[in-house]
Amino acid sequence: MTKIINVKTSKDSYPIYIEHGLKTNWASYIKQLLRGEKVAIITDSNVGPLYANELKASLENLNIKSCIFIISAGEKSKSISNYENLATKLIEDNITRSDLIIALGGGVVGDLAGFVASTLLRGIDFIQIPTSLLAQIDSSVGGKVAVNLPIGKNLLGSFYHPKAVLIDPEVLQTLDKRVLSDGMAEVIKYACIKGESFFEFLEEYDLDSISGQFDKLISTCCQIKADIVERDEKENNDRMLLNFGHTFGHVIESNFNYEVYTHGEAVGLGMLYIANLGERLGLTKLGTSDKIKTLMLKYNLPIDYPKMDIEAVKAIIAHDKKSIGEKINTIFIRKIGDSFIYPEYIDALIEK
Ligand SMILES: NC(=O)c1ccc[n+]([C@@H]2O[C@H](COP(=O)([O-])OP(=O)(O)OC[C@H]3O[C@@H](n4cnc5c(N)ncnc54)[C@H](O)[C@@H]3O)[C@@H](O)[C@H]2O)c1
Ligand SMILES: [Zn+2]
Repeated sequence: MTKIINVKTSKDSYPIYIEHGLKTNWASYIKQLLRGEKVAIITDSNVGPLYANELKASLENLNIKSCIFIISAGEKSKSISNYENLATKLIEDNITRSDLIIALGGGVVGDLAGFVASTLLRGIDFIQIPTSLLAQIDSSVGGKVAVNLPIGKNLLGSFYHPKAVLIDPEVLQTLDKRVLSDGMAEVIKYACIKGESFFEFLEEYDLDSISGQFDKLISTCCQIKADIVERDEKENNDRMLLNFGHTFGHVIESNFNYEVYTHGEAVGLGMLYIANLGERLGLTKLGTSDKIKTLMLKYNLPIDYPKMDIEAVKAIIAHDKKSIGEKINTIFIRKIGDSFIYPEYIDALIEK
């Protein structure tokens, strides 16, 4: 049965459909939402060969014209030059405001295609078909779209919601194990900030056995994110809770030039760091960091915090979007499933 989660936004609402095997119906969902004549499928060089032709063929069966645009797989593609290339090609292809853009891929494709959709001709409808675990539980929900600037990630972007999110957990079968593990770090994050029983559920499985539980896992995460986004669409308050583990996660990613740790691996280490610190500051129940560490091991995530230069760490945190003068809004947890925002001095966060 298709699980439907509605995300309410300030202006509108849109559905997330989750079902094993949903991909056989992608085209009919698209047909329902298409106001114009054609569909532009934006995908990457890994996902395209696996799923784009199948989607194009099933659209053709419903007499819908479509075109496939492929970008190279990887974070480097979330660039202004790709944005310009795609925008130009779509205009050359005579796209109109009533047509539809489909983001078929992981978070890179979702963020880039979403940003193109949000700006081209002042806004074209788009649908997210997320294919990585991270995209299915996080980046496709909530309306943040962006590209990177050479000086930093996601600096050029907007809030622009899709018309629908179509999730088929079956496509995760072709995902690389490290990329799957990467997504699991964000799943663990949801459990830490909002779901004690969800955390206990995750403890019953590991990276291999969890695949039988993807439908439940994805709908739980999407529901948590939808609830948070509904309360705080523009990240003034509660949406910040989703940044648990991210301050030090970004420090690690940036300190190693985004080459050594994946985003999820770094976020996992960031969660452990804050849980440990919270225990020492008396903000977090003792034993919480051990619980997180045990769960991370089950999902093949690294647990050893790397050595970094303190001054370099301070400099990275000072540039974080969440810092306000000498303090930074940091997310701590009282215990598993119970998170809060705590403005703390940057100096007090860094271990000497
Ligand atoms: N907008 C948001 O709210 C939000 C939230 C979190 C992350 N993000 C962004 O998401 C991006 C990371 O997303 P990601 O981890 O999905 O990265 P990604 O899009 O690079 O995908 C990871 C890898 O998996 C491949 N892949 C994806 N689906 C596949 C499938 N079904 N089978 C085989 N290979 C597949 C991709 O080609 C890529 O090589 C970052 O740019 C990050 O900034 C955005
Ligand atoms: Zn993240």
